[in-house]
Amino acid sequence: MPSTRDLVQLLRWQVEAGADEAILAAPVDRFQAPAASPTDARAGTPTRAPAPKPRAAPVLASAAAVNETAQHAAAQAANLDELRAALEAFDGCALKQTATNLVFGDGNPTARIMFVGEAPGADEDRQGLPFVGVSGQLLDRMLGWIGLDREAFFITNMLFWRPPGNRQPTPAEVAACLPFVERMISLVDPELLVMVGGSSAKALLGKSEGIKRLRGRWFTYENAFMARPIPAAAIFHPAYLLRSPAEKRAAWQDLLAIREKLDASTDSSPKQ
Ligand code: URA
Repeated sequence: MPSTRDLVQLLRWQVEAGADEAILAAPVDRFQAPAASPTDARAGTPTRAPAPKPRAAPVLASAAAVNETAQHAAAQAANLDELRAALEAFDGCALKQTATNLVFGDGNPTARIMFVGEAPGADEDRQGLPFVGVSGQLLDRMLGWIGLDREAFFITNMLFWRPPGNRQPTPAEVAACLPFVERMISLVDPELLVMVGGSSAKALLGKSEGIKRLRGRWFTYENAFMARPIPAAAIFHPAYLLRSPAEKRAAWQDLLAIREKLDASTDSSPKQ
């Protein structure tokens, strides 16, 4: 009989490996031997187990078809409430089936600055809000240093549902959600866009460089839904800063540059 300590270690190992979701209501003992196949008494040879009934083949939509549906649904949304409803009705991203909640966005929908992170984690999935876990709390503190709180910014992610076990999003998941992110940016209509972490920077800017090369620079961002291009920057993800505190100096410089840009933008073209 394993000790409680061993069991806790086993559980911890499973969580670290990403197995942190209950898929069935009751556990299945995979070590239990399968039922012995019935024996044909007359011939003394095992008979074949009945063949399983063929399952209906799943209907797999092509990535192009999913993207087209997403584009159409996103384009129809005239405001953020409609966009949320469109996402709730959208079945093109399988993450929806394993997630607890849709994580749409948070903050001020008329803010002058918008942040886009990578994907919801366990805390975000539970609460249905982006950046509420440990790394989100660090991000809130960092933005507080430059005078920004959730009344002053809007924040969302590249994915609206949590990847199980916080695994890396697949390109297909990112592509399925992208039209909704793009539409959201056009509806919030910020003066500045900030991508939090390398994945969102690469996806929104269409770049292949890593975050270390993308941070500390200004880009021009535009998508098909927007009426005008806006300046955009990428910053280190707070989860990375928690693991690499030496990079906080560079992160501080990036935040100061964002504050300066926002102040300069107030001087020249205040948002209506
Ligand atoms: N990391 C992200 O990129 N987004 C969240 O919402 C939480 C953690």
